[in-house]
Amino acid sequence: MADIRINMHSDTQSRPTPGMKEAMMAAELGDEQSMTDPTTIRLGETVAELLGKEAAVLMPSGTMCNIAAIAVHCRTGDEIICDRTSHIINAESGALAMFGAMVRPLDGRNGIYGPDQLEEAIRPSRRHAPRSRLVEVEQTSNAGGGTVWPLETVRAVAEVAKKHGLALHMDGARLMNAVVATGVPAGHQAAPFDSVWIDLSKGLGCPIGGVLAGSTEFIHEIWRWKQRLGGAMRQSGVIAAAGLYALENHVDRMAEDHANARVFAERVANLPGISVDLDTVQTNMIFFDVSRSGISAPAMQMGLEERGVRITAVSQRRLRAVTHLDVSSADVEEAADAVRAVLEEMPGDAPGHAETRPARSEQVL
Ligand SMILES: Cc1ncc(COP(=O)(O)O)c(C=O)c1O
Repeated sequence: MADIRINMHSDTQSRPTPGMKEAMMAAELGDEQSMTDPTTIRLGETVAELLGKEAAVLMPSGTMCNIAAIAVHCRTGDEIICDRTSHIINAESGALAMFGAMVRPLDGRNGIYGPDQLEEAIRPSRRHAPRSRLVEVEQTSNAGGGTVWPLETVRAVAEVAKKHGLALHMDGARLMNAVVATGVPAGHQAAPFDSVWIDLSKGLGCPIGGVLAGSTEFIHEIWRWKQRLGGAMRQSGVIAAAGLYALENHVDRMAEDHANARVFAERVANLPGISVDLDTVQTNMIFFDVSRSGISAPAMQMGLEERGVRITAVSQRRLRAVTHLDVSSADVEEAADAVRAVLEEMPGDAPGHAETRPARSEQVL
């Protein structure tokens, strides 16, 4: 297999920078489980302050942040209302089912639903029906295209949820991308939510971790789940130090990732047989459809890999490219050139190559 020089599979693919590694090496360490790791404590305090919450806790992954939060919010038969594209439905191995929670998926636009849709989905209290319990928002929406929930929509949805006594959870895997894209501070975006987390291992460029925030009482309950799920750590300061470094040094620079994503999107949108909904390119992701080219998305992925570029097919028709701190402005130009080269060199109309039916499900990581 060819060497991958430009890895746009996901923003999880970046490697820790030299500065981050130094911070990790220098971290003051203790024991997280007995609350004596000073660096982890500092990260929790920093993120709690950033998100305007009373407390926050480091978790090994964003998935564990979602699972633990849902475990605290929901009981058997409770219903979670979220967009149908959301990570908690499609990419967490059915974890919701561990707590007997049900899902009410909404048909949002590019991963973003509105207050009226929410209002309609909330069930009246009847003993025959599941209890509407939790409203979830994914900022930014991954499968929606890295799209940003506007603050007004977040607030309007939260108002409906609160009117009906529902809890609110934000999957903020890429909340900091939304902050950079809009200039709206994280605390404003997180304000209506009972629980919210940010991922350290995506645009922030850390090797591992997510930080989940909420009230003191909520985080107290989360600690039980962290322990239960095997997420309680020891010298976790090495991870926390990377997180603190990233929050200081890697937030503003995400504007470069967004600019690079736009350049890549505009370049591939101009290629024959490629469609890109440029309106959805708001942060660091680009979904593009190759079905009109006569080349399937997996074939495009293979052709790109042979040219040292990794961009992943999420269905027979569509691929997703993601920019991050290891993808430069020259890289996105080269990647777009590689897409052009594959189009020029591959036999587009080979039988069975192009799949034009809508994808039943897409894989997003
Ligand atoms: C929107 C969203 N939520 C949650 C996760 C899970 O995060 P992690 O990979 O840290 O478990 C991801 C990962 O891609 C994601 O995109």
